[in-house]
Amino acid sequence: MSMNDHIGLKGSILNPLSADRCDWIPEGLLVYDRAGMITYCGPDKKILGLKYKPLTITGKNIIIPGLIDCHSHLSQFDAIGQTGYTLLDWLKNHIFPAEACLRDKKGAENISQRYFRSLLTDGVTFSVLYTNFKTGVLAARRQAEKAGIRAVIGYTLMDRAVPGYLKQEPSRTMEECRGLSSLFSKNRSARLHFSLNPRFAPACSSKYLRMIGRLANEDDLYIQTHLSENVSEITAVKKAFPNIKNYAEVYDRFGLLTERTLLAHCIHLSPAERELVSKRGCGVVHCPSSNLFLHSGRFPLEHWKHYPKLALGSDIAAGPSFSMLDVMRDGYYTNIQKLSGLLYMATLGGAKTLGLEHELGNLVKGKQADFVVLKADNARFSSADDVLSRIIFRSGRVEARKVFIAGQEVWPQREK
Ligand code: GUN
Ligand code: ZN
Repeated sequence: MSMNDHIGLKGSILNPLSADRCDWIPEGLLVYDRAGMITYCGPDKKILGLKYKPLTITGKNIIIPGLIDCHSHLSQFDAIGQTGYTLLDWLKNHIFPAEACLRDKKGAENISQRYFRSLLTDGVTFSVLYTNFKTGVLAARRQAEKAGIRAVIGYTLMDRAVPGYLKQEPSRTMEECRGLSSLFSKNRSARLHFSLNPRFAPACSSKYLRMIGRLANEDDLYIQTHLSENVSEITAVKKAFPNIKNYAEVYDRFGLLTERTLLAHCIHLSPAERELVSKRGCGVVHCPSSNLFLHSGRFPLEHWKHYPKLALGSDIAAGPSFSMLDVMRDGYYTNIQKLSGLLYMATLGGAKTLGLEHELGNLVKGKQADFVVLKADNARFSSADDVLSRIIFRSGRVEARKVFIAGQEVWPQREK
């Protein structure tokens, strides 16, 4: 490939480098090849041998890496904003009935299409999600492929303490999951991955959790679940597993704490549980908007500050917004911190949590050209935190002008 096949976009670049370092390049240039790999990201200056076709987007731009949402429920899309309860009653009254709709193929296609469109509108290029039923997984896979977005897709596994219409028969569901796992690995699109998603310990029997752990291990699958979100949930876990000493140990007993596990919330963990989660190398997904909405409690960031696999999740529908900038704002309301640390969690931290930091998460030579072009006003910014402050708190809704995944423009969407 000659350098003439490369494409270059000028703009101000915001680029997270680690949990506490974020580059701000006011006059920057991003260059990528036709295969969608970044070949240069840095100051816009003449560099010997650097040739590219310019991509022009009118006006002033701020370029940021594609945003990664590490925890969300596609099947709850139409239940956003349903108030009045904390976790367990909210699930019973609003969420279980909403999830039932995914059984229908047409309904599942429709909601999946709207879900991915909403994500791209807000600059999310990777969604780690829960849907329901095999129909839901197949619909999400089809619609994600059409949208060109990256995703980890699994369906919510549960065999007790939920209504009959959601309850599964473990052996049958595991056969289905085995088939789906092989389907995803056969038609290997680097953008889409299958996961096993036990809802949470109170909704799964020991037998089911054991089967899930076994299949995850055999097929090296991602595991997604909820951990220690709400105090009544913890009481339910104690009752359901009286012989296991704490909530994190329940998952560990059945082989569910792995380096490919994403644990949402982790609000009320004991020091011993935190140590176990870190020792197993699990991803921790902080969902601040959801925690505020359901009054679940405060995520104790002070215990996870130096933990590399720390990510952010919208937790739709408990979190009301698809915008990771809104989630970052709620993260700041929850814990005083540098805004660039929050951007890290929504980008590179997410990529590390998924074990994909060599390909995704920031704008570095050799990685995929996943990026979002935001509209910049004429203000001059002195640092990454200064820009983020403007984007998150002072400009109202910031719309993504354009979104690119592997160098392809995926939003605004062209009808296919
Ligand atoms: N815990 C178990 N299921 C759910 C869910 O759907 N949403 C949230 N926020 N927590 C859960
Ligand atoms: Zn959730």
